[in-house]
Amino acid sequence: MVRDPLREGRLGTKRPTGVVEFLSSMKADRMIAEADILVDIAHLLMLRRQGIVDGKTAETLLPALLDLYDEGIPEEAFDDRFEDIHAGIEAYLIERAGPDIGGRLHIGRSRNDEVATCIRIRLRTLLLEQMEALLQLRRVILDMAAEHRESIMPGFTHLQHAQPTTLAHHLLAYEQAFGRDFSRLQGSLERVNRCPLGAAALASTGYPIDREYTSEILGFSAPLQNTMDAVSARDDMLEAIAISAISMSTVSRLAEELVLWSTGFVQFATLDDAYSSTSSIMPQKKNPDVAEIMRAKAGTVSGALMSALSIMKGLPLSYDRDLQELTPHLWTAVLETKRAYMLLAEMLATTTFHTERMAEEAGKGFSTATELADIIVREFGISFRTAHGIVGRAVRKGSLSLETVEEAAEEMASLSLRDLGLSEKMIEEALDPRYSIGVRNVPGGPAPSAVDTHREMRGTALDADGDWWEHFEADLDRAITRLVLAARELVP
Ligand code: ARG
Repeated sequence: MVRDPLREGRLGTKRPTGVVEFLSSMKADRMIAEADILVDIAHLLMLRRQGIVDGKTAETLLPALLDLYDEGIPEEAFDDRFEDIHAGIEAYLIERAGPDIGGRLHIGRSRNDEVATCIRIRLRTLLLEQMEALLQLRRVILDMAAEHRESIMPGFTHLQHAQPTTLAHHLLAYEQAFGRDFSRLQGSLERVNRCPLGAAALASTGYPIDREYTSEILGFSAPLQNTMDAVSARDDMLEAIAISAISMSTVSRLAEELVLWSTGFVQFATLDDAYSSTSSIMPQKKNPDVAEIMRAKAGTVSGALMSALSIMKGLPLSYDRDLQELTPHLWTAVLETKRAYMLLAEMLATTTFHTERMAEEAGKGFSTATELADIIVREFGISFRTAHGIVGRAVRKGSLSLETVEEAAEEMASLSLRDLGLSEKMIEEALDPRYSIGVRNVPGGPAPSAVDTHREMRGTALDADGDWWEHFEADLDRAITRLVLAARELVP
C-alpha cells in the first residue's frame, strides 16, 4: 500500500470517496503520464548538474525513472487518492527510494509548472500527429483533383445551381482551406513549444536552477519566461482547440457535401460500403453514417472549445485548480480532429464520383447565363447591368433562345441584339458549360489550365509543409532520445 506523502503534513488523510474522485485528474492524466517521466528526468538531470542534489540522489532516482520510462508506470501510481499522476509518481519514487532520496525530486518545482510542461510535451506530439494526418488528407485531395480536372459539375450558391465548375476546382477549394489550417497549426505548435518548467508554483524558486537547460533537453525552443504566465497560461491550449474547431467546421462542410452528393436525388457520388451503414428494418438502405458522425464531431470539438473558454475566463492569476478541468477538452479536440482527417482522407479516396451525372447537372438551371451576359458585354459594348437585365428577363420568360433574348433586349433596353450581331451560334457557345469553364482561366479559376497551375502551386506548398513537419518532428525526436541517453549515462 503506497502512502500519500503529500497530504500527511498539512491535512488529515481521511476523505470521503466522493471527494477523492471529484478532485482526481487520474483518468485524463494517462495522456501525460509518460511526459511526466521525461519532465522528472530533465528536472533531476538539471538538479544534479547544478549541484542541487548529490550524485547518490541522481544515481538512485534515475534508474527508477528509467524503469518507469521503459516498463511503464505501475497501476498503483494511478490511484485516485493521489489526485494526479505527478503526486502518484512521486509517492511511488518515495516508496522505492525511501523518503530521504525520493523526497528530493520535487526541489525547486511545483505541480503547477510540472503539469503545464507535461501538457505542452504531449500536445506538441499530438499536434504533430494531427498535422501529419492533415498533410495526408491534402495529398489525397490533390491527387483526386489531378484526376478530375475535366469532370464538369454544377457549382452552387445558396445550394441553387449557380455556375459550372469542375470537381477538381471544387476539391481544390477544400485543399486551400486545409492548407490554412496547417499553417495555423504551425503557429500553434511554435507557441506551444515553450517550456514552463522552473516557474515552480508561480514565483520560481531560490535554488540556482537552469531553466535554459531543462527547456533545451526537453526539446523546447525556449523557456516560457514570466513564471506567473508560465503556470497560468492555457491560451496556447485554447488556440489548439480553436484551430481544431475551425478545421472541423471545414471537415464538416465536406462531410455534408458527401451526404448530399450520395443522396438518391443528387447521385453525384457513391460512398464505399466500408464508410456506410444500413438500416435494421429497411433492407435496401445504405446510409452515409461515417460522414454524419464526422459532421457531428465538429459539434463535439466546438463544444470542447466553448467548455475550455468558459472554464478559463475570469480565473485570477496564477494557478487555479479549474485549469485541471480544461485539459481533457484539449485532448478531445485534437484527437477527434486527427481521427476525422484520417477517416475523411480514406473515405474520399474510396468514393466513386459519377461524372456523367455531374455533367448532366452542370448546365441546368440556366447556370451559364452569366457567360451569355458577359458575351453581350464583350461583343456589343453594352453595360454589364443592362446585359444582366436582358438575360435575367429572358430566363424569366423561360428560355435563352435567340428569339427570347431578342424579346428581352427589346423590353429591357429597347434594342435589337440581333441587329448588333448576336447569333444562334454565339448563344450556343455561351451556354455550353465547357466553354464557360474554359474561359474562366484567371488564377484560381475552374478552367483546366488554371486548375493545373493552381494544383502545382498547392503541390509545392504541400511539399514545403511536409519538409517543415519532418524537421520539427526529427528535432523533437532527437531531443528526447538525447535526454533519455543522458539519463542512462549517469546510471552506474
Ligand atoms: N492535476 C493538476 C492539473 O491538472 C495538476 C496541478 C495541481 N496543482 C495544484 N496546485 N493542485 O492542473
